[in-house]
Amino acid sequence: MPVNTDSPAARATSVDGASIKVVGAVKQYGSMRALDEVTLSVRPGEFVALLGPSGSGKTTLLMSLAGFVQLDEGEVSIGGVPQTRVPTYRRNLGMVFQKYALFPHLTVEKNIAYPLRNRRWDREDKKRAIAEVLELTDMTHLAGRKVHQLSGGQQQRVALARALVYKPPVLLMDEPLGALDRKLREQVQLEIRRIHRVLGTTIIFVTHDQGEAMSMADRIAVMNHGRILQMDGPEELYNAPNSEFVAAFVGQMNFFRRESGQVRAVDAEATGASDPAAGAQNFGIRPELMRIGADDASGLRGTVSETIFEGANRHVLVDVDGVALRVQEPASNPSRTMGDRVSLTWDRRSEVIFP
Ligand SMILES: Nc1ncnc2c1ncn2[C@@H]1O[C@H](COP(=O)(O)OP(=O)(O)OP(=O)(O)O)[C@@H](O)[C@H]1O
Ligand SMILES: [Mg+2]
Repeated sequence: MPVNTDSPAARATSVDGASIKVVGAVKQYGSMRALDEVTLSVRPGEFVALLGPSGSGKTTLLMSLAGFVQLDEGEVSIGGVPQTRVPTYRRNLGMVFQKYALFPHLTVEKNIAYPLRNRRWDREDKKRAIAEVLELTDMTHLAGRKVHQLSGGQQQRVALARALVYKPPVLLMDEPLGALDRKLREQVQLEIRRIHRVLGTTIIFVTHDQGEAMSMADRIAVMNHGRILQMDGPEELYNAPNSEFVAAFVGQMNFFRRESGQVRAVDAEATGASDPAAGAQNFGIRPELMRIGADDASGLRGTVSETIFEGANRHVLVDVDGVALRVQEPASNPSRTMGDRVSLTWDRRSEVIFP
């Protein structure tokens, strides 16, 4: 979607994003800790993705920001104001969910106008806000169309426009692109990013798709079991993951253990604890930083078990003592044959050491 960043609509619609602070958030469901002392600080206008496997607490954290979930412990502040006693409708948040609950038999314009119905803005201001957000999301030509006559991507944009029409300083999104196919998803991802750049709204975006988080967010909070394990920019997260979990969840990683000078490949879940005193160290190497060479004593020896063509690259799986290691090569390299004996090497500087 061509967002015109210099248009009057863009200038008029830009908002002051609010900071968000969560301190020591705990949410308990029976014996299940959905949030386990979550602390998080988001700058005004920042785009943060919450990334983690199913059940890791992403939606619960988002819902506690919105006030739909009451925390057992801890506190949420938005724009420096503690929210404990502020009801959802007073938090002034935009929200977009996976099922965006539009009114299918109303027009695009009426759907977008809906959140304004209880706001004491005068008629002209409402009309202007709707026109601006229609232009921003490139929906002006569809304003009179009924929602059920739109494509999935267009409906997604109506949901976005509806969440933005009252210019909220914070926009919360929970897997809003889940229903879209890959191509459309990537397109809407770029659109959301561009709109974010134009508006300056603070965005918290939940996803379990690491590619989506990496391509969209300024920073990513990786969650597991109700905790934030690491919160960093996409490149830091990829190049310097602070744990085996983060390393395996963000991109692909091969795991190793070095003990008394000997290196062996290990499964992701079975690395065991590093023990510097005993000279034991766990580390990982990204697939693109490993090299396949002739079967000799220069590296770890193994057998090619699978090759996966991925367009620009080929992934070669090599079985080393029962552990499948993954090597990424340019697809222009000669193909590997299953059953070939090979030797794997890498530069020690590309090792990511785990505590
Ligand atoms: N209302 C509830 N009652 C009981 N348990 C709940 C409730 N809501 C969430 N949970 C539990 O809390 C944990 C976190 O759930 P949450 O919905 O936050 O996960 P999520 O990271 O959003 O997962 P998904 O990617 O599947 O949406 C899960 O184990 C879930 O079963
Ligand atoms: Mg969820």
